[in-house]
Amino acid sequence: MPDEPVPLFTVQIDGVWHQFPKGTRVIEACAQAGIFVPRYCYHKKLSSPGNCRMCLVEMGMPRLGPDRKPELGADGKPMINWMPRPQISCAQEVSEGMGVRTNSPLVKECQRGVMEFLLINHPLDCPICDQAGECELQEFSVEYGAADSRFLENKVKKPKAVQLGPRVTLDDERCILCSRCIRFCQEIVHDDVLGFVDRGSHTVLTAHPGKRLENNYSLNTVDICPVGALTSTDFRFKMRVWFLKETKSICTSCATGCNTIIGTREDVVYRQTPRENDHVNSCWMCDHGRLNLDYITSERRLLEPRVLLGDKLDSSDWNAAIERAALQLRHFPGWETAMIASARLTNEELWLTAQLARALGVDLIDIVPRSGPGDDILLSEDRNPNTNGARLLGITSEPGARLGEIAQAVKSGRVKALLALHENPIETGITAEELSNLPAFIVIDILENAVTEKATAVLPGFAFVEKRGSMINGKGRLQRLNRAIRGPGNARDDWEILRDLLQALGGSNGLYSIDDVFRQMSDAVPEFSGLTLSKIGDLGVQVLRARGALSPLAEAKETAVPPS
Ligand code: SF4
Ligand code: FES
Repeated sequence: MPDEPVPLFTVQIDGVWHQFPKGTRVIEACAQAGIFVPRYCYHKKLSSPGNCRMCLVEMGMPRLGPDRKPELGADGKPMINWMPRPQISCAQEVSEGMGVRTNSPLVKECQRGVMEFLLINHPLDCPICDQAGECELQEFSVEYGAADSRFLENKVKKPKAVQLGPRVTLDDERCILCSRCIRFCQEIVHDDVLGFVDRGSHTVLTAHPGKRLENNYSLNTVDICPVGALTSTDFRFKMRVWFLKETKSICTSCATGCNTIIGTREDVVYRQTPRENDHVNSCWMCDHGRLNLDYITSERRLLEPRVLLGDKLDSSDWNAAIERAALQLRHFPGWETAMIASARLTNEELWLTAQLARALGVDLIDIVPRSGPGDDILLSEDRNPNTNGARLLGITSEPGARLGEIAQAVKSGRVKALLALHENPIETGITAEELSNLPAFIVIDILENAVTEKATAVLPGFAFVEKRGSMINGKGRLQRLNRAIRGPGNARDDWEILRDLLQALGGSNGLYSIDDVFRQMSDAVPEFSGLTLSKIGDLGVQVLRARGALSPLAEAKETAVPPS
């Protein structure tokens, strides 16, 4: 049965009449009308306790005539009886004929009063506060507060630099008691760990006795804390936020592909924070993915190509390294060659990998499956970000199913040339000795590992923050990675390495940019038809039917919001 249409209510906001669907909260209706109402405790993904009072507005209801019907004014619209006291707009839903004033003298006085009240005990420590630059107390104080303070008494002293858990530090003096963090833990993570104790000005946020804020979503409390009370132990004091360049990208630590903003300065990644996408991750991301950045600056990063000369792996320039690797691959027929690819590669890289396999006549190719415990929030059991891309582009039909065959073929000596892309063959059952005995063992990777020294050619690639490209998440959504920093040393973008190998094997292939690779792919793969990297947009495009690998949270969001 088709859904019943949602009734529309006519509502006057600051003198202008609008229509909003039944159920819209007044604060959201104002936003839809282009009017921002300041708020602290309200968060659109959480319940509304209405405890900060920052969102006070004037409200009125239609004036009823003797026949109990709304009286109409000269403009034909209902006349309004204004309530004598202001009301909070975050908990109230719109109703037919309602009036709202967001900028009357009374509302402005209320906003000034709430700001003055919140600042009574708040320390004036913006210069040393990590939240400065993205603090709503700081911003609203300028926008809605008074210029000076009437408070002469001593401020209440509260605990500072409290470790609430392994990743979150609390400064209780800065807390404005909005309870966003408490509600996030209760309502989204179902981990009732935070609460308020004591009364009045002495109220403090704390973890319940015997508990720590250590769930895998703890850093989201830092994102939604409107002030500098909760800070990330990892990020605090490392960089002023106004120096950060922000790049929209996706997390590659599991198949969910949470949308992110990567904060960088001068080619250093300082933090990764979630970006709202109701099709994928709502407003959140897990701590595991957020902090999985250390390897980018590892001392084990491969910084220059190396090739085997005599019995020694020696540094080389790129032209010679590509020539040498192509020569080694060309030396063996396809049935004596195997490829271990990775579902951590982008679609563009997997597309070129598949072309390379075709050019060499290689049939023995697979990816390495990677799994870990998932949860019912966001974290997927599939810890590879692009298993669906590897399936769609024909690298594998069942991830890992052919790895045993590859290991056996190396062991028996049938395979003489092995190309490993962003994977360590030791993890697939091939021994270091067997790798040493291979006449051709070519490694494209970002980190030095136990077997890199056994390679006949090492071609250093880029980490996910250093490249542009696309991936398909566990639910079949095509999403875009964007380059946030330049790659280190003499490492190169993986699509360029693969393109050059293909060129060295078979001549020109007309690929000059990552957009060219996507175009070539979209001409051949029906699921990408009509798309370009730009058209994927910031929120991605649904290209496959869900395989059931996605979290219930994102599943629910997907049904709630039609795909764009
Ligand atoms: Fe609100 Fe931040 Fe205090 Fe939590 S710590 S109650 S989010 S101000
Ligand atoms: Fe409405 Fe806090 S935002 S009371």
